[in-house]
Amino acid sequence: MSQNSQAFDQWIRSSFVEINTELEELYFVQEDRANTQDVGEDLKSNLRQQGEAHIKTLLAEGNTDEGFDRGFDLLGNVGLFMAACERHGITQAHRDNRSPLHEASALAMQLGASLGVTPRFATSHMSTHSRAINGRYKSFTSLEDESIFIEYNTLAVMAYKRAADALLRILPLGVSHPVTHDLLEAALDALNDVFDYNERLFAKLDTDRFFYSVRPYFKPHRVGLHVYRGANAGDFAGINVIDLLLGVCNADHAYYSQLLVDKFLYMTPEDQAILRDTMRRRSLMDEFLDHVGVHENEEWYRSNLGKFLQVIRRHGETAEQHHDQLVHKFIEKPAENLEEEHHENLTASGPPLPVLLRSLEKLRDLRLAADRDDIPTRHADVRRLRDSLG
Ligand code: HEM
Repeated sequence: MSQNSQAFDQWIRSSFVEINTELEELYFVQEDRANTQDVGEDLKSNLRQQGEAHIKTLLAEGNTDEGFDRGFDLLGNVGLFMAACERHGITQAHRDNRSPLHEASALAMQLGASLGVTPRFATSHMSTHSRAINGRYKSFTSLEDESIFIEYNTLAVMAYKRAADALLRILPLGVSHPVTHDLLEAALDALNDVFDYNERLFAKLDTDRFFYSVRPYFKPHRVGLHVYRGANAGDFAGINVIDLLLGVCNADHAYYSQLLVDKFLYMTPEDQAILRDTMRRRSLMDEFLDHVGVHENEEWYRSNLGKFLQVIRRHGETAEQHHDQLVHKFIEKPAENLEEEHHENLTASGPPLPVLLRSLEKLRDLRLAADRDDIPTRHADVRRLRDSLG
């Protein structure tokens, strides 16, 4: 790492966190906790000045081409700085028509374009790719609820990736292979882990602290001319690999493929390649359906299909948990008490909350293979498979 990027990294891990935390404490004791105007103006100006000084030096240094990992890490640091500026109202995506952070935008765009990712911080910068130094990974603040949120997100993302990895290994073997049973068991174990982590997150996270002091860093912001949507825990390939391989979602369906297209550049290039490859594959559900009425009494069919149906059910249950518990408790409920003036950018992707909720509900029901005739769920096919087991 060049000396300049190292100095910036040290600042992101120290003063940056201290300033953000001090500002959060000031906002949180106000009657209107969502207000950021005319509070801590000196702190905000220090944040901007210190961050921009580091960034100007880095921009002058130019691209030192230290490989993907270093470039991606630096993009994360610039992105964290820009997201914090948006959070404190130093920049305002809906007010400005270009980002006032000229140097930060230039550096972020140069890095994003050369790495093949969006020019802002993404979830992987905070989770799967956030290097810890002496036990501390990167964060915006030192608030306990930010740590709870980040650590449980990371644990759940890692567990989804384990499930996806096990399912991908079935492709060359086929659904009748004896080892497929073990791989399905591994996927089920991993989804059980997601379920447990979500339950713990639900119980431990403080709603107001999350809503007022953590969530606002994950909003959309402008880089150069354009607004880039916020980061959410779903920006990794694994969750969609599971959807597609189980067969509960279909990349030929416009609603789902739109979601995939929109998230590609928010994922690491490695994840982009995995997802692109998975989109070309046939689902395991379709493979099993080929055998209905043909091999129903075979030992492999009964045991592998039985396990497969358990995996589908658990995947649906984690989606249900995300929507009915996490989104409901930590976004939908607290948003009811939010003053109208603060509704701008309530969600990470930007659409009004009711629109976003309807879209997340569709995803939940596809994953549950629910009985709906307005969206193409696999309800009838799952029932057919279940009935074939008698
Ligand atoms: C997306 C809320 C934790 C996985 C979203 C969105 C919201 C949300 C509001 C939509 C983003 C937007 O467009 O604005 C929450 C809350 C959480 C939480 C309040 C906890 C406090 C998690 C965890 C995971 C996760 C632990 C596990 C990896 C996803 C996925 C998406 C998503 C995969 C993309 C949509 C999809 O494919 O379902 N989340 N989330 N979330 N979140 Fe979470």
